[in-house]
Amino acid sequence: MELGARIASVQDEHELWARTINPQFVRVLRTIGFDRKWTRAEGAHLYDADGNRYLDMLGGFGMYNVGRNNPRIRAALIEALELDTPGMLAMGVTALPGLLADELIARAGGRIGRCLFTSSGTEAVEAALKLGRAATKRPRVVACDHGFHGLTLGSLSANGDANFTARFQPLLPGFSHIPFGDLDALERELQSEDVAIFIVEPIQGKGVNLPPAGFLEGAQALCRTYGTLFCVDEVQTGFGRTGKLFAYEHWGLEPDLVPVAKSLSGGYVPVGALLMARSVHEAVFDSMSNAMSHGSTFAPNELAMAAGLATLRELDDQGLVERAAMLGERLLEQTRPLVDEFDVVREVRGLGLMWAIEFEGDGRMYRMLERAQRGLFAQLVVVPLFSEHRILTQVAGHDMAVVKILPPLMVGEDDLAAFVEALRATVKRARRMPTSLTKFALTAAGIGR
Ligand SMILES: Cc1ncc(COP(=O)(O)O)c(C=O)c1O
Repeated sequence: MELGARIASVQDEHELWARTINPQFVRVLRTIGFDRKWTRAEGAHLYDADGNRYLDMLGGFGMYNVGRNNPRIRAALIEALELDTPGMLAMGVTALPGLLADELIARAGGRIGRCLFTSSGTEAVEAALKLGRAATKRPRVVACDHGFHGLTLGSLSANGDANFTARFQPLLPGFSHIPFGDLDALERELQSEDVAIFIVEPIQGKGVNLPPAGFLEGAQALCRTYGTLFCVDEVQTGFGRTGKLFAYEHWGLEPDLVPVAKSLSGGYVPVGALLMARSVHEAVFDSMSNAMSHGSTFAPNELAMAAGLATLRELDDQGLVERAAMLGERLLEQTRPLVDEFDVVREVRGLGLMWAIEFEGDGRMYRMLERAQRGLFAQLVVVPLFSEHRILTQVAGHDMAVVKILPPLMVGEDDLAAFVEALRATVKRARRMPTSLTKFALTAAGIGR
């Protein structure tokens, strides 16, 4: 109760955040009109202080695969708290992490035989980079243009977008990038046989770029040929997002390293894990003196483990992985016609419930917007979707006219249908680009007033 009263005592959380946490973020929210007072969430919906319901098509950047405030994950957490479990022993082990590791390893299949827990996706990627380099005794890492693997320095070094990296140079040495899909470029990098890891998202999150046919299988084969570890970053695509538990299953891949995070704890508790081949682990943790070669004080966290076990069970019990596959197909069927309906819609694409729509245009207004800031048209869709239709979406990355969704996998079919209709209406209006919206877009880009 005391907590509830304290929350209720905050008159203006945006002012509080601006003063104590990040004023620029609050400016962004205010500029695009996303500065609602949020009070409650359930499943695929958010509620504001006026009692309005919003459809959440972002799912906390993909961490609410099982839905917000899922009652069964909550029950598992309460049970874990009430059990007064030993918690972190530092010098000792408990059952919960082992139970979750066992389940993850069994489900990952293929080469995966060990699990190292972290508290976030970027830490799981950092572990892949660090252990992969030590295991192979090789210095280099190859990643893809436009790839995203997190924002700490190691992961950032693998990032393929200057918008994220330019201001933070120098990054780690030994990182190279190839175009996503270019096997010849990958082979040129790998044949020097000094590359420890090739790290790749099976579907690139920034832009929802699907791999060209044969790319991932070819990349795995090249990695095997040249002794490079094949690392498939499933932080965003994992746990049913694409209609398989792990996206790599679509291509029958057997990666050596698999960072996961986001939805693993049902969105309740920070969590991540690096799933890896036993040989990688054994090459690094190769003696008692190296038994603690990598780790972190809070990982594995017992509440995260309890939530993780409940989340895997929830995915199974509710058939959410199959549901994502089915709903994703339906969503593509319903949205593909938009390409013919509107000259500004270039493509809709996706796999499971990872979906995007890309815009292009050659009209005067469109070109003006693109000159002001690449991809600005997408804001003309995202903003009214939110303010008029109460649907939360996002622009998929810097410099791209792509709107992306990652809804909870339990989202209703009626919700998806409502999204498609709202999208159609919004694109139709944005195309005509009323002056007020254009002015808004230019203001959002920091150009107009
Ligand atoms: C593919 C991928 N890898 C790594 C990360 C980093 O995860 P986290 O934000 O938990 O650090 C993300 C986050 O969006 C991601 O999409």
